[in-house]
Amino acid sequence: MPSKWTLKDIPSLAGKIAVVTGATSGIGFEVAAALAGAGARVILASRNEAKALVAIDKIKDDNSESLVTYIPLDLTSLESIEDFAQDFGDQFDKLDILVNNAGVMAIPDRKLTTDGIELQFGTNHLGHYALTCRLLQYLVSTTGISRVVTVSSRVARSGKIQFDDLMAEKKKAYKAYRAYAQSKLANLLFAFELQRKSDSRGWGLMSLAAHPGFAKTDLMKNGPGESCCFRMGCCSCVCGQSASRGALPILFAATSDDALPGGYYGPKGCSELKGKVGKAKVPKRAANLGDADKLWEVSAELTKTAWPTVGINMVGMEDDARGGGEHMDNIEL
Ligand SMILES: NC(=O)c1ccc[n+]([C@@H]2O[C@H](COP(=O)([O-])OP(=O)(O)OC[C@H]3O[C@@H](n4cnc5c(N)ncnc54)[C@H](OP(=O)(O)O)[C@@H]3O)[C@@H](O)[C@H]2O)c1
Repeated sequence: MPSKWTLKDIPSLAGKIAVVTGATSGIGFEVAAALAGAGARVILASRNEAKALVAIDKIKDDNSESLVTYIPLDLTSLESIEDFAQDFGDQFDKLDILVNNAGVMAIPDRKLTTDGIELQFGTNHLGHYALTCRLLQYLVSTTGISRVVTVSSRVARSGKIQFDDLMAEKKKAYKAYRAYAQSKLANLLFAFELQRKSDSRGWGLMSLAAHPGFAKTDLMKNGPGESCCFRMGCCSCVCGQSASRGALPILFAATSDDALPGGYYGPKGCSELKGKVGKAKVPKRAANLGDADKLWEVSAELTKTAWPTVGINMVGMEDDARGGGEHMDNIEL
């Protein structure tokens, strides 16, 4: 890995197609703008058309040649996810880069998705799980190796998958930050399991995870709210970084030749809150193969998705690029 990886290190992405969820603001917007800046055709997957159109204008203001469009996606609805995949398939026949970025954090009161799933688990994990499954056929249709980057958080370290009460349905079981941490741990378990499934079933894709450290975005305002935003805002002034800096580990995972299958990347400095891009520490619970398998099965049931079990040719997959074990040498003990 170069000692300091920057936007300038993104290779040409001309001819590549990328989908970024939650690209209307914060990290997702920066990721989408950078991918478009490198020549990719970028699809903003967003639930808010007005915000998506503003985001497209902003990207095109910087570079009028940018190939950037919008397809509606609400991750809290399985029907919307299916519609997105249908719309995508009507326009494109392959997908090179999928960035599972959209998220909500620490919603104060327990809320449900359209399908009756606790909102943070539903949006952050299950929505992306279902979306990736629906887009798999396009991911395996690329001529090179496609990449799926799932955005997690340092908070995953305190996460625990409550298999006996995933939706925090038991009396007083809902705690806003606990539900967020669970969803971000689920993001990691999913990313690593996707790499293993790809390897064993021959899907020929790279699945990676990344986190932005602590970046100044709308996440706090949209979640715990303004008062917490003020307290955390003070902290982010000291420890945080800009959304564009926060986007770098995600962009590294999505584009760099030095990023490895099954890798996890984040900022290297100050407790991984900010700094240059490097390997992120994998929480021990994220490397639990039993939990990963169990979560995969439960998620398939809850989202009514079926993944292909038969092998698909590993187009362009070099032997030394396989394995999905890069994260195993940076597990937090
Ligand atoms: N900022 C940080 O310090 C930090 C730290 C660790 C991890 N992260 C992770 O980084 C990712 C991006 O967050 P951010 O900080 O950039 O926050 P943000 O500015 O609030 O962006 C979140 C994005 O997710 C979208 N979104 C939320 N619910 C959605 C749904 N149901 N369907 C489709 N899109 C939805 C939002 O769309 P709308 O515009 O429609 O609301 C918005 O575009 C999240 O996964 C978060 O957990 C952030």
